[in-house]
Parts: sequence; structure tokens; C-alpha cells
Amino acid sequence: MVTIKEVAEKAGVSITTVSHVVNETRYVSDELTEKVYEAMRDLSYRPNIVARSLRSGQTKTIGLILPDISNPFFAEFSRKIEDKGFTFGYNVILCNADEDDDKQQRYIDVLLSKQVDGLIFFSTGHLDAINQTLDKYDIPVVITDREPEGVHTDIVLIDNRMGGYQAARYLLSLGHRRIACISGPSLIRPSAQRVGGYRAALEEAGIEVDEDLIRTGNFRFDSGETQMRHLMSLPNPPTAVFTCNDVMALGAMKAVQSAGLRVPEDFSIVGFDNSPLSQMVYPQLTTISQPVKEMADLTVELLVEKIDLKDHQKRNKGLMPEYKRIVLDTKLVIRESCMSIAREAQKN
Ligand code: RIB
Repeated sequence: MVTIKEVAEKAGVSITTVSHVVNETRYVSDELTEKVYEAMRDLSYRPNIVARSLRSGQTKTIGLILPDISNPFFAEFSRKIEDKGFTFGYNVILCNADEDDDKQQRYIDVLLSKQVDGLIFFSTGHLDAINQTLDKYDIPVVITDREPEGVHTDIVLIDNRMGGYQAARYLLSLGHRRIACISGPSLIRPSAQRVGGYRAALEEAGIEVDEDLIRTGNFRFDSGETQMRHLMSLPNPPTAVFTCNDVMALGAMKAVQSAGLRVPEDFSIVGFDNSPLSQMVYPQLTTISQPVKEMADLTVELLVEKIDLKDHQKRNKGLMPEYKRIVLDTKLVIRESCMSIAREAQKN
């Protein structure tokens, strides 16, 4: 096995310098650092990270558990978290819970066994696993995007109710009155809050909410398509639909276009997330934007702060810190998938 002594000789530096480079325990010039890494590559030297973490008490890794990596929203969010973690010198271990509580719990156990320095959760909605982790392991945790009830830690969210209100208000401003809503799973609070904003906008406009126009999806493509087909089959179909995420909006668009009808001429559609998908589809999707980069940056900054401050040590001494609850604004992004009801009439 290649030794640190051989690396030092190859690089033409002291063993101490190699140790400082590998363990990041002291500044080493870029020139010498590159020489050490070049020697490590040439000799296929693998530093013993486990030994390093035993010495430093840190693995410089962050665990990230998210609900559904196949959803571009989470893929983009994870990328931004990984980018930000890298700037702080942390590697990110990403786990896909697939919207499943048992899988989420299993990944919590795996990440804890890997001695990650902190955890970032997009909760699947159920609280138990997170509170157990918080209470039992005293590991720094920050939650983002989905707020389980009664959790005691820092959390970074958006104003989901405002987002749903913005979507419905926009469709009302185009003259639509029969506006449907395809929600995500009712257990997931962001979805319920978006539907609440949709209801508030209709009620504020004096429109009685027709419960037949509110359908429950699962945040995935197929449910958008299925629920849109149902809405189109109603005796008095809607002229516009707000879907609680972009993936379901694309499913709804497929249902319309497969029936030989058109978006927005026959149905206006507004999504939610402003994920990369929303610009890759024709017509481009009008949607409600989540400030993903800002959320990711804030989430990582809060976690690194907790790791550095050894938040859990303070908790052990009974000094319960003030937990931060940050709520960011959403924004309507107008593209091509909506049309005013007057113009629709002219087109038909
Ligand atoms: O698209 C997935 C949805 O679940 C997003 O709107 C996000 O907010 C998450 O909660």
C-alpha cells in the first residue's frame, strides 16, 4: 500500500506538508498543494478519510434526503445544495426517499452510520423520523420545502399559499371563471397551502369554489394527465387549470393535446415550481417560480452554521437556540400556456 512518505518523496515536500494538504489542517500554497495531489494521483494514493474524521470529529459530508429525484424540481434543488456545500468544503451524499417514510427512515440510519456532519431533509410529510433523529442523535438538521407539523429545527420554505393565490389571480385576470385545480398529495402541506391560496383568490373574486373542479394528484406526470382527462369530461368543463407542480401540468397538457385540443386556445394551464421542464415544453409553461437557488444557499448556510456552532452541544447544555423559520416569496412567470377567455372565444 502506498504510504504518505512515498507521496512526500514523489512531490518533493515534507510528510507534514502532505498531511496538511490531505487533512486541510493548515494553509499550503496552491503550487505545493497541486504537487501533492499530482503525486497522490501518480501513486494512486488514497488518504484514509475514516482516520482523518476520527481525528477531526468531522467527515465534511452532508446528508441530503429528498422525496423524488426523478422530479426536475428536486434534481435542480439538489444540484444547488451540492454546489453550495462544495463552497464550504462539504461533500453531499444524496438519498432518494421516493416519497416513502420507511425509505426515508432507512436513509436516516445509513447517513447517521456514515457519520455525516449534518442532515438536510425535504420531508416526505410525516414527522416521526425527523423528530426521532433530532431528539435521539443531536445531529444538526435543517428542513426545507416541506414543513412537517411541530418540528423543532431551522426550516427554509416558500409562501405556498401566496403562490396558489398568484396562479388563480392571474387566470381570473384573463377572464376565466371556471378554473380547476389539480393538487399534490393532500398529506403534503405545500400542496394544501397552494390549494388554499387558489380558493382564497376565487372567493375574493366572488366565485363560489366548485369542489368538482378540485382534483387530487400525486405530483407526478400520470396524475396530471388522468385528472385533466376527468376535468375535460365534465358536462361543464373548466376553461383553465392550476396544477400544484410543473410535472402534473405537463401531464395535463398531454391530455389536452392527445384529445386534439390546444393549450392555451382550449385550456389555459398554470404550473408551479418553474422547474427546467417548464421551458422545454410547447407551449412553454406559465408557472409559479420557487427561488430554488436562494432556498438551497440559505439551507446550506444554516446547516453549516449549526455544524460549526455545534448546535447540538448547546442543546445538551439546555441552551435551546432560537430556531429560524425563513419563508421566501414566489413569483408568477408568464409564458405561453394561458390565454384570455375573450381571445379564446375569438380563436374558436
Ligand atoms: O414538484 C414537487 C413539489 O413537491 C414541489 O412543488 C415542491 O414544493 C415539493 O414540495
